[in-house]
Amino acid sequence: MKTKVDPETCIGCGLCPSIAPDIYEMGDDGKAFAKEPEVSPSQEDAAQEAADGCPVDAIEIE
Ligand code: F3S
Repeated sequence: MKTKVDPETCIGCGLCPSIAPDIYEMGDDGKAFAKEPEVSPSQEDAAQEAADGCPVDAIEIE
């Protein structure tokens, strides 16, 4: 599984790093980013939960 955050869409709500701190982090610009684009199997549920919970659908998963 791979993930990334679209910085144009992210409104900086902070949900994704609170759900999945091992994957997402807030940048200095106030937008979230994926620390590692490759999500390990043990983190997949957290990544999916963050993507589902993002209020503006800024998180892509493939
Ligand atoms: Fe941004 Fe969505 Fe995360 S708005 S901070 S990508 S939950």
